[in-house]
Amino acid sequence: MSFGNAAWIWRNGSLVPWAEATFHVSAHGLHYGSGVFEGIRCYETANGPAVFRLSEHLERFYASAEVYGFKIPYTLGELTAAVTDLIAANELESCYIRPISFMGSGSLGVHPGKCPVEVAIMAWPWGAYLGSEGLEKGIRVTVSPWRKFHSSMMPTTAKACGQYLNSILAVQEAFARGYDEALLLDKDDRLAEGSGENLFVIKDGVIYTNKADDSILMGITRDAAIEIARAEGYAVESRSLELSDLVEADEAFFTGTAAEITPIRELDGQPIGSGSRGPVTAAVQSAFFNAVNGRDDRFAHWLTYLNKAVAA
Ligand SMILES: Cc1ncc(COP(=O)(O)O)c(C=O)c1O
Repeated sequence: MSFGNAAWIWRNGSLVPWAEATFHVSAHGLHYGSGVFEGIRCYETANGPAVFRLSEHLERFYASAEVYGFKIPYTLGELTAAVTDLIAANELESCYIRPISFMGSGSLGVHPGKCPVEVAIMAWPWGAYLGSEGLEKGIRVTVSPWRKFHSSMMPTTAKACGQYLNSILAVQEAFARGYDEALLLDKDDRLAEGSGENLFVIKDGVIYTNKADDSILMGITRDAAIEIARAEGYAVESRSLELSDLVEADEAFFTGTAAEITPIRELDGQPIGSGSRGPVTAAVQSAFFNAVNGRDDRFAHWLTYLNKAVAA
């Protein structure tokens, strides 16, 4: 992944050239991870670029900041305009969007005190996170020796910068052993999530995913997959999942803004079901791509078009 030719970054209220979008090395967020961020995708549609579930992502952005006791000093309307203006300025048809807000330069006591709240948004082209072959054939996953922290240790429902050190440990360890992605168990040995994805398993035609108190980020793609699967006629249940649920599953997939809907074909060398993308996963995945690409009117309300003339 590189950042392509994205020319502009939105920083604290205005667009600045990519190379000038700098912050000081004394920023509290750099030292302690005191920041929150979002990952959002914009897709190409017949009516031009459209951002998927932008308001839900921005709402989670504010909620994550609130957990850490700071207030993002821009309104939902201002950040919505910032995202669409940035994509237009960078002349992108489809892209990944990364808003970040963090404690800036002011003090390096652990308590962030009066550090200013900085906000920036990046947008650049980013293809399939786990590879286009992964989307089609499925990926190879390993159970990480690193546990997902419990929400009594850090709030798993917040998308905060420092929390990702746990994911970094897990994904580095998985890559070192030749896997595509890590799956983390929670402290009670139940399935939590991937380093950047939520987990779904399918057994006898029923789709299962875990719930908020299983130490997961409440993924917006997870929510979309549940709604899409139900609209396609599948039963979906949220409950805690054991490792045996995955080992014995007919199919499994990960969801995430970056990962979209990626089938899991193998767990620690053992095939899941047939060891390839299964029929339920394929159906949900195809309905998901129809929704994000503006081809399904049932989910039109999830899209924010850059072209304001296109009604949702
Ligand atoms: C740890 C973790 N879990 C789940 C997800 C999926 O969340 P979403 O679908 O909102 O992108 C992500 C990605 O954002 C993540 O980083």
